[in-house]
Parts: sequence; C-alpha cells; structure tokens
Amino acid sequence: MSGRRKFILSVAGMAGAAGLAAGFLRAHRPRPLGPTAVADLPLPLDPAFPNPLRLPGAEGLFGMADTSEAFMLAAKPVEHPILPGRPARMLVYEMEQYGKRLHNPVLRVRAGAKMRIKFWNALEETSIIHWHGLKVDSNNDGHPHYAVAGGGTYDYQFTIANRAATYWYHPHPHFLTGKQVYHGLAGLFIVEDDEELALQQALDLKFGETDIPLVLQDRRFDDQGGLVYAPTTRESFHGHYGADTLVNLTPRPHLHVTSRLCRFRILNGSNARLYRLAFRHGDKLLDYHVIGTDGGLLDRPRTVQEAFLAPAERLDVLLDLSAASRGDAVTLVSLPFDAMHAESGGGQSARGEHAHHDAHGEASPYPPDGTELELMRIRVQRRIAYERVMPQSLSRIDPVAESPFSPRLIVLDQAKGKWGINGAAYDMKATPITVRRDSVEAWDIRNVPPTMPHPMHIHGFQFRVVSRQGSPEQQQRVAIEPGSLAATDLGLKDTVLVWPGETVRIVTDFSHPFLGDQVYMVHCHNLE
Ligand code: C2O
Ligand code: CU
Repeated sequence: MSGRRKFILSVAGMAGAAGLAAGFLRAHRPRPLGPTAVADLPLPLDPAFPNPLRLPGAEGLFGMADTSEAFMLAAKPVEHPILPGRPARMLVYEMEQYGKRLHNPVLRVRAGAKMRIKFWNALEETSIIHWHGLKVDSNNDGHPHYAVAGGGTYDYQFTIANRAATYWYHPHPHFLTGKQVYHGLAGLFIVEDDEELALQQALDLKFGETDIPLVLQDRRFDDQGGLVYAPTTRESFHGHYGADTLVNLTPRPHLHVTSRLCRFRILNGSNARLYRLAFRHGDKLLDYHVIGTDGGLLDRPRTVQEAFLAPAERLDVLLDLSAASRGDAVTLVSLPFDAMHAESGGGQSARGEHAHHDAHGEASPYPPDGTELELMRIRVQRRIAYERVMPQSLSRIDPVAESPFSPRLIVLDQAKGKWGINGAAYDMKATPITVRRDSVEAWDIRNVPPTMPHPMHIHGFQFRVVSRQGSPEQQQRVAIEPGSLAATDLGLKDTVLVWPGETVRIVTDFSHPFLGDQVYMVHCHNLE
C-alpha cells in the first residue's frame, strides 16, 4: 500500500509542475494557415486510436430523437459491431422514427416540455426505465417497484421541471440494473433552456459537432467481440471492471476538431469505474474549464487540470484549442489514483480474490480501478479563425438553503458481505428515511471503513454539496472552494462521490409539486 501511495504522490507532483506550462499552446501560437493544400489533407491515421468516435446522428446508435410527439422506447437485443467488424449481441433502447431506427437515442428537449413515452420491455426479464436526475413523481421515476415483466409496457407522462443539463436514462430493475446497463441500455437526456441556448450561441456550439457528449463505459469482450458480464462474488460486492474503456461505445476512439473552444459533456456511464480526468498534450496536462455538473451550468467556469468523475456523475467542460496547430494531439486520460478498495473486507473468499487482483505485477484480466488509462485522442485537423471567448458568468446558483434541522446522519457500512445504509440492507418494501414535503434537510453521508468509494445518488431531487471532511489526500488536492469542495461538487448535483473515511454534507430541498406522498430511492451508483 505505501509503495503505491508514494507512486501516486510522485505522479501528483509531476502533474503540479506541468501546470506551470499550461499556457504552452498560446506560447507557440502559429500564424493562421491560409487555404493551402496541406491544411486540407487528412491527418495520418493514429494506430493507437484507429476508430472515429461515434457521434449522435440521424439514425443508429445515439440517433437524435424527435421528442415532440409521444414515442416508444423498446428495450431489446440487437447485433452490433462494438469492436469493428465483429457484430455481437447487445441490448439497446430502440426508437423508430420517420422510417429510421435509433438506438439509445439522444433525447434532447426544452425545459417545460411534456413527455409521453411508452416503454416496451422486449427483454426476457423484468425492466423499467429511470430518468436519472429528472424531477418527476414516483410513478414516473422508474423505481424497481414498477419494473414490468418481459413483454410488458409502462407508460410515462411527465413535464420537464429541470433546468438545462445533461441527464441520462437507464434501466432500474432490482438486481438486474448492472447487467442490463452493462449490455448497453443507457442513453442521454439533454434538457435545454434559454440560458443554455444563449451559451450555445455565444460560443457557436453545435451539438454533436462542437458540443460533444462523451459516455465513458468500461467493458470486457470475448473472442467473438461479444460483451462478457459474469461478476464473481468479489465483483458483485466491489463492482465489475472492464478491460477496455469505450467512449460512446467506441473502442480506442479519435476525434478530429478545429482550433476553437470544444465542449465535452462527459458522463461516467460505467458500472463501477472511477476516472480522474485530464487532457494531456505530450507530457503536460492542459487546463480545462468546468462549466457544469450533474444539474446544469455553474455560476461561472472553474479552471482545473483534473477531476474525479464517479459512476453516474456528469462533467460539462470547455477545452480551449483555439491556439493549437494543425496536427496537435491531446489525449483524454484517466490519471492514476488510489482506488481505496484495499480498506474493504467482504468475506473470506472475497479476500482471496482480492489479493490476486490488487497485487501489483501479477497478471490481471483487466486494469483495476485507479489504473492510468488513455481514453480518447483529440486532434486538430484544421485551423480556423475563432474569436469567441468563454463568458465569465454562466448562470445564477442560489445560495444553499438553510435547514432548520440538525444534519441527518447517513452511515454507509457493511455487514456479512452486504452493503448497508444506517445498518440496513436494501428492502424494496421498506422506506427507512422519511422527509417532510417541502423541507430542507442536511445529510452527513459518512463512509465508514472498511469500505470503498461510494457514488451516492438521490432520485427525484438535485442537491447541493456543502462540505467534505476526512477526505483522502488525492481528493484534498482537487479542492478549490471552502468546505474542501472540488469543481465536481459545485452547482446542482444528483450524485456525489464519498471516499472511505469521508463525511460529505449535502443539502436537499425536498419541495415538489406532486400530489400526495412520493417514494424515491437513495443508493450507491456502483451498479453491482
Ligand atoms: Cu442512475 Cu437509481 O439511478
Ligand atoms: Cu457503493
């Protein structure tokens, strides 16, 4: 353990030093290129990142949905070449529109829109859709209570009460969520409002071209290119990790851009893996600007060089490549970190496997959490004149509401090989926490060792992160605001990472416009 910590610290030191050189692109600002032949030649193929990143389009995977009318999403198996040239079975949400098939369609809607969606479960097991981050009543929230059997349907009808942000949708049947998401069921739900459209206009952003969603998901494949999901006892306790991290279901992807501000809406759609995200040019880390988190835009951009992103969290960033030259390459990476699973117990047999997988130098079938990863290569294909500047103010974020109550303690712990909250394991019939309608509550979420990092999610409400206490050094390093908050803690949140030993205070305003009592979930988003 201590050897590993030292290694991480020294890497951290390097990253800090690289920060001094972050202005390198500007230092080497080239003269704008005229319309020469060279400027238009395709860039030579980069063998390490041979596959073009899949982007939202008119059909197929991530097709853009027309949501103005009622529509149906069918969860079903299809054949799809995730690995190029090797079609294999996966699960998707299929939508038919104007004679075209969309798979895991991007739902892009205006705030206030009325949604009518029929879910058709064309799987051979129960399922239900949860709209992650949306403020809907419990009938429309996709609680596992409402899961329908294979062949069944479920009708959703709700109004978009959220502000603009990158939300997402995924299955939520009890015990089957991890498996179904892993096999492909997940999509983006993008809400836009006037403020968001003004930003797009100010920066000349076009969704799918210069405003690009990046869904990070790690997967294992068999020899035929099929997805492999068979968690061991240990993995069903600690999470299932893949051998390759895909971006938008593209293995080893590249993206060609022009010299300008690029927006990336990053969703950690992995079952269990955490990422420590950075943009690297050569051996230097670039500055990037966090403009939004789970529940939309921040009050103003925050400039960082790295950010942890836990499963289900979103990070909305701007990367400034306006001074880059044609051919410049930037790699989206996950920097190494201490996964902090070592503090876990989890039973006798689990401990045996644990030793195997954590021991360094031993062959491991997949990179353990915290391994350094190269996720995507971004290359500047063409220089353009781009004069827009990032606005200094993005949105108005209300001050955190005062709670009249003392904080409620939410203890994350484990007993007999099961994770629990305040000593109890999940029971679908129980509602162990009752909050009063319209009340504001502070919760102290305490992750008690022996344990692992838990990304904690509340359905139906966006909350605020107020403070972190007892944070590990690697989290303290990314703190930029009072309360030891990182950029990813700012703004409105529906999922927050709680490291072993930490107590994270959140404040939630539980007011809602729905009739009667509502039942929602609070859980860890490690899907296993
Ligand atoms: Cu994204 Cu209850 O989950
Ligand atoms: Cu957890």
